[in-house]
Amino acid sequence: MVEQRMNSVIKWTLILFVLVSIILNIVLISMYSGRAPKCSAHRAHPLRGKHDERSLVFADLTREEYSQVQQYMLKQKDLDISTNQITKPSENFLFLIDLSLPKKADALAYLDDGKGKPTREATAVVFYGKSGYVKEYVVGPLPNPKYHRDVTKERYNTDIPINSRPVTIGEYAVLFEFLEAEFFSKLQKLMKESFDVDDTKHLNAFEQMPRGVRSGDRSTWISFMRDMSGMYIHPVGLEVLVNHESVNSSQWTIQRVLYNGQYFDSVQALKEKYDRGSVKKILYTKSRDYGSLKPKTKPLQVGPQLFHPEGKRYSISDNHVLYMDWSFAFGLSSLTGMRVFDVRFKDERILYELSVQEAMSVYGSVTPGMGLTKFLDTEHRDWSLCAPTGPRCGLPL
Ligand SMILES: *[C@@H]1O[C@H](CO)[C@@H](O)[C@H](O)[C@H]1NC(C)=O
Repeated sequence: MVEQRMNSVIKWTLILFVLVSIILNIVLISMYSGRAPKCSAHRAHPLRGKHDERSLVFADLTREEYSQVQQYMLKQKDLDISTNQITKPSENFLFLIDLSLPKKADALAYLDDGKGKPTREATAVVFYGKSGYVKEYVVGPLPNPKYHRDVTKERYNTDIPINSRPVTIGEYAVLFEFLEAEFFSKLQKLMKESFDVDDTKHLNAFEQMPRGVRSGDRSTWISFMRDMSGMYIHPVGLEVLVNHESVNSSQWTIQRVLYNGQYFDSVQALKEKYDRGSVKKILYTKSRDYGSLKPKTKPLQVGPQLFHPEGKRYSISDNHVLYMDWSFAFGLSSLTGMRVFDVRFKDERILYELSVQEAMSVYGSVTPGMGLTKFLDTEHRDWSLCAPTGPRCGLPL
């Protein structure tokens, strides 16, 4: 009897304890939760501006538009163009398609005076390996192109020779075949002893720019690195200067070789001196993969986080961005990088276009390849102000 009563007292005490604990938790959580910052899904404050779909006059080409232009250019049989990535330098290659920006006056008339929308057009760049020049076309109207117009002279005031083109994937493919046939396969003993390179292992190549000092030059120093993470910090002390001026790769030549700080005028000269033992040799030693960015120890804690305590203060619709009192349209050109248009503050336009035009990085080193390197980048860009006299920009409006 007594035991039974004791059991039921314990049971009821426990139930009471659990109930009180739950109620206390609910009360405390609701009291304190208001104090901690939270990631709100909703905006605490309404947006201060409205999205404007007229910003689409500055929008990058859509996938469909891009493909329409490509199809249109391929249909022009007289141009005899290929879009195959590994098109040889001696053939005609459709290198680039990009938005052709509307004239500023036309865009402003549309944005401010309710005039008609400017015709949407694309720029197409073709490398004519067969004829030895580069041409730029305007193709329009999008999305269903019916015309193309050669604008090379109009835009650049000169013809553009084929050697002004950047190296394409097709040319790289031929370059690597050339190096295999004319360089690596002729130096097998040296490659194995100095760099442990054989049929299964290879070196990574890194090419240098500029490819000469005069217009038309196209000779490139190619440096070799160990095939490891962050290959740039694993140079092996081997560089080769390839003349690839001709679009006909049978006319390409190796002009200089640098091995362990010593120069040679040909692969043959290096090979003979190496075999004779009159060259200061590199003997291969293994090295750790110290360039890897993979964490070498377990992280100790979660890193800093970014969150919006009162919801997002910005909004994006197509290419139009609102941010507090600001608004702008944005794009990313493969020729000139990131850019914004029609930048407004409290709905007042303060910039028509803000974009990067050019950036240069200069390298230094003890080897000719790295020492000569100056990247005049049009693709890997920083932000900078566009010059007021530039053809497509103006500051301020
Ligand atoms: C390429 O160059 C080689 C060697 O000079 C020549 O025999 C060949 O005819 C050239 N090919 C073309 C398509 O011009």
